[in-house]
Amino acid sequence: MSAPLLDVQAVDAGYGHVGVLRGVSLQVEKGAIVALVGANGAGKSTLLKTISGVLRPTAGRIVFDGAEISGLAPHRIVDAGLMHVAEGRRLFRSQSVRDNLELGLYGGRLDAAAEARRYEFVYELFPMLRERPDHRAGVLSGGQQQMLAIAQALMREPRLLMLDEPSLGLAPVIVDQVIGAIERLRAEGVTILLVEQMVDRALDIADRAYVFQNGVVIGHGAPADIRGGDLIRRAYLGAAG
Ligand SMILES: Nc1ncnc2c1ncn2[C@@H]1O[C@H](COP(=O)(O)OP(=O)(O)O)[C@@H](O)[C@H]1O
Ligand SMILES: [Mg+2]
Repeated sequence: MSAPLLDVQAVDAGYGHVGVLRGVSLQVEKGAIVALVGANGAGKSTLLKTISGVLRPTAGRIVFDGAEISGLAPHRIVDAGLMHVAEGRRLFRSQSVRDNLELGLYGGRLDAAAEARRYEFVYELFPMLRERPDHRAGVLSGGQQQMLAIAQALMREPRLLMLDEPSLGLAPVIVDQVIGAIERLRAEGVTILLVEQMVDRALDIADRAYVFQNGVVIGHGAPADIRGGDLIRRAYLGAAG
């Protein structure tokens, strides 16, 4: 097997003196959708924040495309090609759809043709955005805001896109659209690390999945194997008990 695009090796991380992640190892192969599931508070968002440089690992290392990124500033990690769409769709709410997409280009230096291709790519993926260039982000529906948040990250043409609970708070029909878009992104060659509370939806589209409980990976494998075993039950019972 060739080296994974993202290789998280025995990482510990947390907030100040509060440890959350313990010995987390995880690999994302190029071109795959890898899902990360587990109960609320298991540490999924903490892992994404650690990979994107918002938090620093206190042990272990994170390697992206062969180079260590742990300890780099977040903007350096973005420059390396890793984009994180955080929980809660942090958009510029008073700015237009078009301005939010333009802000997504921030820091990148592109010629006009390359820039036009990026807009075309996100408009193809989310036609709704093309139809509403002047709408303020804050007046869009939750699903539209989620699509805009993903599109904004795609303006940097990431090599790895990390999505934190993209379906949160969305109506089922909108969840279908977001999930469909994630599958189309994989078909376009974008590698995806997907954190998702809707376990079945995540397992439906993932190539592999990791199950988290209390800051630890309790298992990983193909979706069919994870569905067949009792990992999910353990992960969610553990949180309740
Ligand atoms: N900013 C923070 N400061 C201190 N503790 C935090 C902070 N954010 C999350 N935590 C704690 O870290 C643990 C993991 O949280 P999180 O990574 O958000 O879980 P998940 O995304 O799996 O729901 C939880 O116990 C949570 O309370
Ligand atoms: Mg979370």
